[in-house]
Amino acid sequence: MSASHVIDVRNLRTHFHTEKGRVTAVDDVSFHVDRNEILGVVGESGCGKSVTSEAIMQLLNPDITDFEGEIVFGGENLLTLGEDRLSRIRGKDISMIFQDTTSSLNPLYTVGDQIIEALQAHGRVSRKAAAEAALKVVSATGIPSPEKRLKEYPHELSGGMRQRIMIAMALVCEPRLLIADEPTTALDVTTQAQILDLITQMKRDFDMGVIFITHDMGVVAEICDRVAVMYLGQVIEDSTVESLFEAPLHPYTKGLMQAMPTIESDPQADLYTIKGKVPSLSDVPKGCRFAARCPFSTEKCVAQPPTLDVATKGHKVRCWHWQAIADGSACKVNAGAEVG
Ligand SMILES: Nc1ncnc2c1ncn2[C@@H]1O[C@H](COP(=O)(O)OP(=O)(O)OP(=O)(O)O)[C@@H](O)[C@H]1O
Ligand SMILES: [Mg+2]
Repeated sequence: MSASHVIDVRNLRTHFHTEKGRVTAVDDVSFHVDRNEILGVVGESGCGKSVTSEAIMQLLNPDITDFEGEIVFGGENLLTLGEDRLSRIRGKDISMIFQDTTSSLNPLYTVGDQIIEALQAHGRVSRKAAAEAALKVVSATGIPSPEKRLKEYPHELSGGMRQRIMIAMALVCEPRLLIADEPTTALDVTTQAQILDLITQMKRDFDMGVIFITHDMGVVAEICDRVAVMYLGQVIEDSTVESLFEAPLHPYTKGLMQAMPTIESDPQADLYTIKGKVPSLSDVPKGCRFAARCPFSTEKCVAQPPTLDVATKGHKVRCWHWQAIADGSACKVNAGAEVG
């Protein structure tokens, strides 16, 4: 593990025991995040983005969940730590922000008290010092009249302000890793842009690693340094943002990018859609998981799962035919998966 890696996820598997048997929601996922770096995690609903972050935070119910692999953070494997140690890491060294602020803020306390409590829960700080730190971090989020806001209750704030308070609460202990799970999806475009700026600025100021989960390739282009694209529990492409936007290699990623509206695109034209449905976790294909929807799939794809290989420096892809697709020699054989 390089010294600059904040976290190293290695061959993570997450299995759930359900009434219908065991399902593997995250299947051999590896990635790392450096300091002062935002890793975007993208992919369709159900591909395992949240389960991956809940595995890192160890928030999944241990009675129905099993893990394999390693999550190395600060020299420790989070998968082997006891609850005592984990509760000291959670909220202090690793913080998380969610889309839904209503369940994360307590309606009965002022936001100031909640930030102060978050700080005091993780260290011996006087109330006065904690109040000063709360004011400092809330001011840094750009909220107007921060002193006044700290005395207010969550319901007195707009959605965008509540999200800023959540970010302030997540950052007040100066974590080394921030996990943001679709934090701006519920916000209007202007507020979304401000929150994205804030996260980028905080990443720099705190020299923090960030895992930013999103559906939105536009957001990835805007704030991420690297990106991991997930499909049905696996990382299928992992790259710097520049390399991914210049030349996406996996047919699924190409589909996601073409589905992005651009300024030049004709508003009357239909956006590209990837045909077909994601297979169910209880019926995972034996070969490439994307084969049934892929215009380039061959017998080999159906029979053998591809490995995540290095295509170019800093760019990995899980596809048997990426090279032929890139140089144009692969033919579109799977007509049923033709894009619409
Ligand atoms: N407790 C559980 N028991 C069984 N299956 C689960 C459980 N929690 C999650 N899953 C399954 O794991 C898969 C991944 O879910 P996850 O919530 O990580 O998706 P996601 O990528 O975050 O999707 P979204 O974009 O909708 O938030 C889904 O198929 C989901 O149904
Ligand atoms: Mg999710």
